[in-house]
Amino acid sequence: MDRAKTRIAVLASGDGTNLEAIAASCKRGELAASIELVLCNVPKAGVLTRARNLGLLTKCVDHREFSSRELFDEALISALRASRIEFVVLAGFMRLLSSSFVKSFHGRLVNIHPSLLPKYPGLNTHQRALEAGDRLTGSTVHFVTEDLDAGPAVLQVQVPIADGDTVDTLKERVKTQEHRLYPAAISRCLSGLSSIETPNSALLDDLEQ
Ligand code: GRF
Repeated sequence: MDRAKTRIAVLASGDGTNLEAIAASCKRGELAASIELVLCNVPKAGVLTRARNLGLLTKCVDHREFSSRELFDEALISALRASRIEFVVLAGFMRLLSSSFVKSFHGRLVNIHPSLLPKYPGLNTHQRALEAGDRLTGSTVHFVTEDLDAGPAVLQVQVPIADGDTVDTLKERVKTQEHRLYPAAISRCLSGLSSIETPNSALLDDLEQ
């Protein structure tokens, strides 16, 4: 293995478009990381097909087969340890993680959330932004702590809301920007520019100017 590359895992439950963007960034050599494992909890999720097409190692751990969150998370931790994962990326992973999981990867665990946190933690962010009449939304990459969507922000991208936008149009516009945001945010973490103690939160477009 190239020692300059950090061994990362991506945890996802859905389409996996962010996984694909992160993989492309690794392949271009922009992100000094290698995706050593894709973990999914939904057997039919599109992310599994996408990951296999990219030649990535996948493992499906179906949460319905576990009697508690703790046991499910122990299975995730074992898989991550078996692949010697150094940094964990949540990309549309729709399970709350237990305190022991979060502690196991303290400072080495990030999530992407489709709103300008601290606005709209939790679900249905696009619906909530539309209902509030907001003109601006976006996405945030943040370190994961035990409080839902409340860990220190690493990087955000802003996305304008247009007249006539729906949840679907907004979701797509935000996702397109997330594909720039997530690799850039992971890179800031891996290079030490951003840490859980000193997140140095920034806006993506300010960095790229
Ligand atoms: C993204 O919009 C992310 O912000 C949210 O879940 C979505 C995942 O999309 N947490 P994909 O599966 O990467 O396409």
